[in-house]
Amino acid sequence: LRRHRTVQELAEEGGGEVPEGYICRKGDRAASAVPLVDVPVIDLKLSASPDSVSDGELQKLQSALSSWGFFQVINHGIDCNLLDKLRENTRQFFRLPAEEKHIYARGPNEIEGYGNDMVLYENQTLDWTDRLYLLVHPEDSRKLHYWPQNPKSFRIVLEEYTTRLRVIVEILFKSMAKSLGLAEDCFLNKYGDTPMMHTRFNFYPLCPKPDVVQGVKPHADGTAITILLPDEKVEGLQFLKDDQWIRTQINPHALLVNVGDQMEMMSNGIFKSPVHRVITNSYKERISVATFCSPGSGEEVGPVEELINDTRPRLYKTVKDYYSIYFKYYQLGKRPIEAVRL
Ligand code: SIN
Ligand code: FE2
Repeated sequence: LRRHRTVQELAEEGGGEVPEGYICRKGDRAASAVPLVDVPVIDLKLSASPDSVSDGELQKLQSALSSWGFFQVINHGIDCNLLDKLRENTRQFFRLPAEEKHIYARGPNEIEGYGNDMVLYENQTLDWTDRLYLLVHPEDSRKLHYWPQNPKSFRIVLEEYTTRLRVIVEILFKSMAKSLGLAEDCFLNKYGDTPMMHTRFNFYPLCPKPDVVQGVKPHADGTAITILLPDEKVEGLQFLKDDQWIRTQINPHALLVNVGDQMEMMSNGIFKSPVHRVITNSYKERISVATFCSPGSGEEVGPVEELINDTRPRLYKTVKDYYSIYFKYYQLGKRPIEAVRL
């Protein structure tokens, strides 16, 4: 059985060439001078007083969410050693021999597992990245046969990280609601019992043509929120802010949180789901670990009632409508949220 070549293989054996499908459309090409901007920082003070984010911090959060759509979180309660181990395990996994990684290969019509960009449409631009995608929460839905057994500590570290993230996610959802003057469980309740969490380990091999190939093409996330552990050394993530691409500085101990389309929908457009992309480079590999939090795909989740009024009418349909067109829009480089605007 012949399998598709991974981006890692293309990078190692391509002789400086890149297959046509990875070359991005003209308008999407990386600009050479993208300014570095200070991203808002939210201090969760989790080590000091768990569970209560100060009013000052809530105000900062509200403005970060409505004007930027992303922010860094510090004092999040996760030990730097754990973050370093997670990054190290990610690198070790992608360094395994191809045949060993393919034990975890994504099956046909599956979304979990190891692989590269799914080819769904003829004229889609492919992302220069390989991934391992795993559902991490709820626990009883985990498909452990996709969870690497090598490196040895991979599963333990991922479990520990997930447990810690759940605490942060809950605090963030509550704080986001409170920052809008809503009852603190308002967003959480939209999820039924609990948000689903998927973690995606991203590996960006060296790219011989960084000016015409992107690691991840411009998109907004199809989540409520996304929590990213970026590479501690190698830059790559850029956000579109006020119609300009900006680079984000790297704080190795911070987590980067961004709003996704579903939170933009739930907040009836108050919180912004930012467009972002990952650029490639020809000198240093990059990794990142992104955790996506979202309601189940069958949920009839729409904007919170309290945020709909005469001056701000309901702006969006439901998450179910959103999911039904998500993949198609994403792969074609279009924004799915535009399709569910009322
Ligand atoms: C993504 O937005 O899909 C990936 C983010 C990153 O690798 O920094
Ligand atoms: Fe993203």
